[in-house]
Amino acid sequence: MKTVLTYGTFDLFHIGHLNILKRLKAQGDRLIVGVSTDDFNAIKGKRPIVPFDQRIEIVRSIRFVDEAIPEESWEQKREDIRKYNVDVFGIGEDWKGKFDDLEDEVEVIYLPRTTGVSTTEMKRVLSEFDERHVESLKNTLDTLSQIVKELS
Ligand code: CTP
Repeated sequence: MKTVLTYGTFDLFHIGHLNILKRLKAQGDRLIVGVSTDDFNAIKGKRPIVPFDQRIEIVRSIRFVDEAIPEESWEQKREDIRKYNVDVFGIGEDWKGKFDDLEDEVEVIYLPRTTGVSTTEMKRVLSEFDERHVESLKNTLDTLSQIVKELS
């Protein structure tokens, strides 16, 4: 039984997330996914749109995922590796080199990301529809038309 472990936030679950989970599962027999809690995201400087309970439920329901667990700290990885008898630690190559220190316990692999999709980009697009953003655009337009009026 070869066990693979990964971590992530998986906010606004998208095809890049699905692809990496599928490819990670193909590296072994059992895939365990640590889903970052909202508090841990705050430590990482991220604020997910979808709450933790929903993100972990989505990840848990993916057929390539055998177990989903909360990720609450940076230090937890070694603990999980021992607890779940992990053989492979895998993650997207945006983290390349960052977890090489785990190589004394497991095989560490960095997989290519799916191009053209990311939660950060989805949030950016959504923010363009954000009410406050629209409001500030309106204000800018009002100011501009005021200036044009005064000049004409
Ligand atoms: N991932 C991927 N391809 C993408 C986006 C993410 O393979 N296009 C992988 C990441 O490398 C990571 C996992 O999916 O191993 C979880 O990534 P996460 O940070 O939750 O998602 P991102 O879309 O990368 O979010 P963000 O843009 O906020 O970093």
